[in-house]
Amino acid sequence: MKQVAVLVGSLRRESINRKFADSVARLAADRLRFVFSEIGDLPLYNEDLWENPPEPVLRMKRELAAADGVLFVTPEYNRYFSPAIKNAIDWGTRPWGDNSWEAKPAAIIGTSPGALGTGAAQNSLKALLTVCDMVLMGQPEVYFVYKPELFDAAGDVADEKTRAFLNRWIDRFTLWVELTSEARTDAQAGP
Ligand code: FNR
Repeated sequence: MKQVAVLVGSLRRESINRKFADSVARLAADRLRFVFSEIGDLPLYNEDLWENPPEPVLRMKRELAAADGVLFVTPEYNRYFSPAIKNAIDWGTRPWGDNSWEAKPAAIIGTSPGALGTGAAQNSLKALLTVCDMVLMGQPEVYFVYKPELFDAAGDVADEKTRAFLNRWIDRFTLWVELTSEARTDAQAGP
């Protein structure tokens, strides 16, 4: 089974994006292994810190190296993705020549109580992931309007239609990670 590093862009305890990511991870457990890579303890990016690299940065880079793909779960802050995600991405692109994101299959999901369900945040993140040389899945998009009644007491997706929609997304992302991570391994091995 392929392994996916999950980065959640909200750091707060009661984050709906964290809850959403947890329930998607449980729903996907028969198809993908989701391993959460925590980004809340990364210092703000500072080039000087490479003189004695912070352990959380090295840990995240190890976790990304072990992952076949990456899932970004972003809240929407002022129509943009969260600064925690930008900070993690910047650390991952360095040191020069060791870009942790390079050629990794990726997807973005996110949730908000607002009617646009993080659509604007996700669109801003898409542009950045392309610059980082990730292989981004374009469809289906998951602009999820968070409603507590869609989940049961354990935090699993209880609503039938929502479950079916997320299952289709998981199937597609599983295929995306399988196909693009294998192509990547082939390319690295050479002709
Ligand atoms: C928000 N929120 C928000 N929601 C939205 O749909 N579009 C937006 O542009 C914004 N902007 C915004 C800015 C800032 C600074 C905050 C703190 C919040 C509301 C946001 O969706 C809501 O607080 C979510 O609960 C945040 O996600 P987590 O932290 O619960 O995962």
